[in-house]
Amino acid sequence: MKVEHTIAAVRAALKQARQKGQSIAFVPTMGNLHSGHIQLINEARRRADYVVASIFVNPTQFGAGEDFDNYPRTLDADSAQLADAKCDLLFAPSATEMYPDGRSQLTTVSVAGITETLCGASRHGHFTGVATVVTKLFNIIQPDMALFGEKDYQQLAVIRCMAKELCIPIEIIGIPTVRAEDGLALSSRNGYLSAEARTKAPMLYNTLCQVRDALLAGQDDVDMLIQAASTHLNKCGFEVDYLVAYSDKLQPLQAEDDVVVTLVAAKLDGTRLIDNLSFQRKAAK
Ligand code: PAF
Repeated sequence: MKVEHTIAAVRAALKQARQKGQSIAFVPTMGNLHSGHIQLINEARRRADYVVASIFVNPTQFGAGEDFDNYPRTLDADSAQLADAKCDLLFAPSATEMYPDGRSQLTTVSVAGITETLCGASRHGHFTGVATVVTKLFNIIQPDMALFGEKDYQQLAVIRCMAKELCIPIEIIGIPTVRAEDGLALSSRNGYLSAEARTKAPMLYNTLCQVRDALLAGQDDVDMLIQAASTHLNKCGFEVDYLVAYSDKLQPLQAEDDVVVTLVAAKLDGTRLIDNLSFQRKAAK
């Protein structure tokens, strides 16, 4: 696997792949890779001739007081995992390579409408940071397709919307969340959890499953169900930011919505965890 740190070098490497007529799949990451990321690489490998990953802990998507400084940076271990997974090229730029003008960069990409709620409500500017860096990475790599985990449901919705509305000719592919055996969605932030918090953390997914089961069993007071589940999580030591049952367009659920997505974000032991579960339901008449 080639590892490049500059935009010029990555473009030169990709020129060769393009000249050979190879299709290119791209997996953007912030590193500290786990099997969820490797699943993205495996899927990319299955779908394209040439696989590019990026590792960049993007400063513009972290707010003040968030974990940018402490975010785990494990480039050597990550490179070894990517090479094992037969990734062809790793792009690992520095912050100055990506943002030569630093925070004074004048151009940003914002997606309105779906970024004001959920994670966007408590992480101001987060999705503008994500949309901006993903646009830059797309322009650098110019892949045919890009793969993202469905664990970051709102992020995926933002990127799909951005790609569609800005006519970016890249297929955006969502890949199902990879979970530990006890149901906890894999995340680089799970590593922050104490042993005790780690045993509690799967309650988030279990709660989403319980809400789903109650809705499928015909419980129609969604607000009461969500409120009870949220109160229970808080009593168990979580600090719930949101727990909602929305349509797949990330709008409050209407009786006619067929697909439901339950989404949760909560702090446990100071660590912010997110998860979601989507399912089909019969529309209420
Ligand atoms: O999901 C992530 O790891 C990041 O938000 C992404 C998409 C790599 C942008 O920095």
